[in-house]
Amino acid sequence: MYRSKIAGLGGYVPENVVTNFALEKMMNTSNEWIIERTGIHERRFVTQPCGCAELALPACHDAIRDAGIQKENIDLIIVATITPEHQAPGTSSFLQALLELTLVPTLDIRVQCSGFIYGMSIADQFIKTGHYQNILLVGVEVQSAGLNLTTEGRDIAVLFGDGAGAAIISRSDDDSEIISTHLFADGTHAKDLWVEVPIGYESPRISKEMLDEHRQYPYMNGRQVFKNAVIRFPEVVIAALEANQWAKEDIKLVIPHQANMRITEAITKRLDLPLEKVYSNIHRYGNTTAASIPLAMVDARKEGKFGKGDKLILAAFGSGFTWASAAVIW
Ligand code: UT7
Repeated sequence: MYRSKIAGLGGYVPENVVTNFALEKMMNTSNEWIIERTGIHERRFVTQPCGCAELALPACHDAIRDAGIQKENIDLIIVATITPEHQAPGTSSFLQALLELTLVPTLDIRVQCSGFIYGMSIADQFIKTGHYQNILLVGVEVQSAGLNLTTEGRDIAVLFGDGAGAAIISRSDDDSEIISTHLFADGTHAKDLWVEVPIGYESPRISKEMLDEHRQYPYMNGRQVFKNAVIRFPEVVIAALEANQWAKEDIKLVIPHQANMRITEAITKRLDLPLEKVYSNIHRYGNTTAASIPLAMVDARKEGKFGKGDKLILAAFGSGFTWASAAVIW
């Protein structure tokens, strides 16, 4: 049995910064409301039509460089996104073509905010069995293309942003390791945070009535999401600690999916952790769904929040509902 590790990381966000003040001009909201309820100050939106594969490309190149491999060494491409450019094929096909890696297998996964950790778990299994040695794992979202940026959609529109994060998961030959991953889901909540009708795609499955009723925009039962998130996040962090007999004190940093600053604060309190041990960059990018964990890892490493040999816990909760964690030695 082999061991896997995160060998390289990369992140990319569009240059266009959209502040809360800019949103005030599009809908009835306020900078104060958004900061108080979410902790978000600004997010990035693409300015012209741009698919997820295109947005992810710079992050992939950075991760490949960071891992010190050649792109030709990649054995599998996994992409997690809720905003694919087309109904089919998945974003990973378009990304493979842009990377000019013809014949490398591609796999899209659809587990929303937990996508990056589910992807880590899938990559980990392929590496452990010796089947593959280097896997490109991407979390990417172009949320702005599918948001209702009017007062009608304000509860969701102010939360989300565009961005991409990438990791190279490789066979480990040193002390760095993905020690364990823990995956959960509860489909009875599937409609508490969902997009009923695929975006950017016309088919017999989409009626004019559906579009007139705005069922192509995300719907969220915000209270239900919040209530479950503050329970499931701590649970899944504890699952990772207990599985490895790690004490909270052993952990250098918890890197949660950047859902909402109030959720991060609530889980910090429930876990009785100091706030500086739970990383947040949501004020800069908003909620970038599948991209948020790798983007947070890139920023946290740049800020010197963790380094070689440190123990990290990654954790996510979101639509599905799905939730997941990973215990990592950097
Ligand atoms: O990855 C998972 C992603 N989802 C989440 O993390 C969301 C979890 N949920 C939450 O964080 C919160 O439920 C929200 C931040 C979405 C909303 O906060 P809330 O305290 O639950 O507010 P609410 O939905 O109960 O709305 C309170 C008021 C309402 O007005 P009335 O009915 O009291 O007059 C809303 O219409 O705030 C209003 N409101 C807004 N006002 C200004 C809702 N959205 C906005 C907005 N700007 N953007």
